[in-house]
Amino acid sequence: MSNIKANKYITSSPAQPQPPADLVKPKFKIDLSLNESPFAPSEKAIKAYNEAGKVLNRYPDYTSAGLRGVLAEKYNLDDKRIMCTAGSEQMLAFLARAYISEGDEVIYPKYGFMVYRFNIMMAGATPVAVDHDDFKINVDYILDAVTDKTRLVFLDNPGNPTGTYVPYDEIKRLRASLPGHILLVLDAAYAEFAVEGNYDSGLKLVDEYDNVVVTRTLSKLYGLSGLRVGWTYGPDEIINTLLHLKGGFNVSIAAQAAGAAAVLDDKYAVMVRDHSRKWIDWLTSELRALGIKVTPSVCNFILIHFTDGREKMKACYTYLQENDINVGQVGMYKLDASLRITVGTEEENKALVATMKDFFGK
Ligand SMILES: Cc1ncc(COP(=O)(O)O)c(C=O)c1O
Repeated sequence: MSNIKANKYITSSPAQPQPPADLVKPKFKIDLSLNESPFAPSEKAIKAYNEAGKVLNRYPDYTSAGLRGVLAEKYNLDDKRIMCTAGSEQMLAFLARAYISEGDEVIYPKYGFMVYRFNIMMAGATPVAVDHDDFKINVDYILDAVTDKTRLVFLDNPGNPTGTYVPYDEIKRLRASLPGHILLVLDAAYAEFAVEGNYDSGLKLVDEYDNVVVTRTLSKLYGLSGLRVGWTYGPDEIINTLLHLKGGFNVSIAAQAAGAAAVLDDKYAVMVRDHSRKWIDWLTSELRALGIKVTPSVCNFILIHFTDGREKMKACYTYLQENDINVGQVGMYKLDASLRITVGTEEENKALVATMKDFFGK
């Protein structure tokens, strides 16, 4: 046993796997487990990335000014209130570090992005998970969970792993009803997929209130998961506070350059969004025809439920892996008879359904 003691909130992780011989080779032929895009990024983003490769001897612009400028223009925002991070996950950690500590309570959805709970625990605060109605967030459950100790609410909208969303009117009601000292963090990682008229990521609320922060990412629709680039829109004071935490150079030259090129490529974004929507509908109806319950999704993934229970789910998961298809397990949410499946290419989606049909003997 080492004498070096970690912060008491950290439990040790399992040992890391051996480095693979090929650094970029995927483990499964078809990987639908992590809500990634099945497509290569926009050609414009790849070109910018390659150009950035020539100047990697230099540190990046530590303020990500170019990328912030592009985002500000695209979404009509104040660029001073945008902060870029190495994926939006980095910002979720910064928010917890900056705004919560021992004795505080933090509300988040029971079936919300699992990173919230981890960050809340690491800050020594108390996680308060609120329930859903059939995998949909009910804003009243959040309001009912508020106590004198509540400091922050994390809300992924749309949600992962549910794929459902809270309509914008309800988000506005939530903000208006929460006490002013509670920071509302709207994690809109899947905003670009949600085309429903009553959905909004909440960027306008940031201009209206001094206690709303919206986090976004280029990992999903823009297909830049591997590059790590996210961004946050928040009130001046909050952004200025968070900037203290980011260290010198948190977003690489390549991430800034490719990220800016990616968000400027509207044609690519529409292609990915349309593809996702089409195949979400197809997967939903094909899997329902097999007797599987599918939660309606506005994202690039679906949450499915085996009516026959845990053993059936496990057998199906294993069968898929034996056939070189990996999907997402959600046991950490105690969803023991469910799986989360990301939309793949047409070929991948068809292979998934064919393998599931085989499994069910249909
Ligand atoms: C709801 C939600 N928020 C945030 C993230 C973090 O994404 P990234 O760090 O790649 O921006 C994810 C990733 O799966 C997510 O599902």
